Amino acid sequence: MKLAEEIQRRRTFAIVSHPDAGKTTLTEKLLLFGGAINVAGAVKSNKIRKTATSDFMEIEKQRGISVATSVMGFEYGGKKVNILDTPGHQDFAEDTYRTLTAVDSVIIVLDAAKGVETQTRKLMDVCRMRKTPVMVFINKMDRPARDSFELLDELEKELGIAMHPVTWPVGEGADFRGVFDRGDRTFRSFDRISKQTIGEVREFSDMEDAGFLRHIAPYEKRFREETALLDGVYPGLDPDDYLKGAVAPVFFGSALNNFGVKELLESFLLLAPHPRPVHAENRVVDPFEASFAGFVFKIHANMDPNHRDRIAFIKVASGRFERNRAYIHVRTGKQMKFSSPTSFMAEKKSVIDEAFPGDIVGVHDTGNFKIGDAVTEGEKLKFKGIPSFSPELFRYVVNAEPMKFKQLARGLEQLTDEGVAQLFVSKLNGRKIIGTVGALQLDVIQYRLQHEYGARCSYEPIPMYKACWIDARDMKQLEKFRLHKNQQLALDREDREVYMSESPYALQMAQEKFPGIIFHFSSEY
Ligand code: G4P
Repeated sequence: MKLAEEIQRRRTFAIVSHPDAGKTTLTEKLLLFGGAINVAGAVKSNKIRKTATSDFMEIEKQRGISVATSVMGFEYGGKKVNILDTPGHQDFAEDTYRTLTAVDSVIIVLDAAKGVETQTRKLMDVCRMRKTPVMVFINKMDRPARDSFELLDELEKELGIAMHPVTWPVGEGADFRGVFDRGDRTFRSFDRISKQTIGEVREFSDMEDAGFLRHIAPYEKRFREETALLDGVYPGLDPDDYLKGAVAPVFFGSALNNFGVKELLESFLLLAPHPRPVHAENRVVDPFEASFAGFVFKIHANMDPNHRDRIAFIKVASGRFERNRAYIHVRTGKQMKFSSPTSFMAEKKSVIDEAFPGDIVGVHDTGNFKIGDAVTEGEKLKFKGIPSFSPELFRYVVNAEPMKFKQLARGLEQLTDEGVAQLFVSKLNGRKIIGTVGALQLDVIQYRLQHEYGARCSYEPIPMYKACWIDARDMKQLEKFRLHKNQQLALDREDREVYMSESPYALQMAQEKFPGIIFHFSSEY
């Protein structure tokens, strides 16, 4: 097949949600429909079980397992679908944000009883920033749910993007009758079929059919009113609006019951974009370019403490990737050949000879790669759009074994390359400050430093609220700011200047006092 055809048939996306909304279940059901697995429960999910939240080693083990399911690929209707898995645990939210840089579209799952939750909001912020096309699946309609119009309003308001209901539910909870597909004007009935396999769904396309009217009996009037209202308020869906990230098609269903999933998958395949151009610093890289270029968006450590090797995940951005061909690692200028690049197909990991834009290639890494690194045929590309966000927790790192200074430095460097945490160095005293999203990573770092690098560290609390990357409109003011705030300034790994504000109040005061300084909440602006 020609390069262009391979690109056009690829759909690379992520399913994201606030924990517990049903991301894992929906992923599994999509794999069932895609024929990648036969029974539910076959996929070891990337989900970190609730019971394990305090046991970080257990979590790391589960993350180890999850490498195998990092990318779940399958073929469906002539398309090659790549689902990129994201960690369910909030403390690993940064991982999820980075994964979003490697997808061409996103499906957001919501719990119909809960609506928009904190994590949904943050994930949508990242999608909006990148103008990623988004679809919404409102899950758990078999359980008591909130009013659908109210949910749509909340979604539009809270996520800042217009909604377009493609399917519409009739009833909810114990009284859930099914969904009406506004596209093909067909009603699909919810009959509580087997949860394990794909059952036949009864369909009604004649809205006067006696069987249909019996099935939705108490809701008939409401059904007619609501569908008429929907046709008035949400007429046709313009696929371009979806592709621009301006409108999100919405589906209702119950992932656990395989219900509404097929409609979602089929609409997704119809509407979702093939790999999109990727922004590099000097130009935009088009997937259809002949020459290969890719970037690392995720690095995963090997769970075996005797081997410090890692897997780097490269997203192919353009051209054809080939096994054993010499490529350039742009940051170091090193030539690299990958003799056993792997792809991940549901549970199977296999060595591949070639890969195309949209695909994810796993390569063995002995410590060369950093998140965001480019690999090309020679061009010095620097990809944009893999931002770091301000961490939530900050600690000074204290070396607990002075003789192991080098090991500690190396360990911290590699762990931050992997994106486990962010490292800052205070401009005042040169002390290392570690910043994480959740408390869990602090434990993970201590554990891994000790077991993989033979270094031990402890932490000292620092009263810090946010790290803001700064940049100045007015150089004089920047000098003044530096003098004034020298205790709160630090450098990140790329030597960018960061203001570590102590509190929301301090940040607000700084913003008011120094209007010539721009405070950014992510490392890319
Ligand atoms: P997550 O990955 O977004 O965190 O959510 P996950 O799919 O694990 O689903 C969270 C819980 O919600 C699970 O129950 C799952 O079975 C349930 N669930 C998912 N979809 C539906 C649905 O359509 N209807 C209903 N009623 N429940 C649904 P659990 O008891 O936490 O876990 P498990 O023991 O069932 O695995």
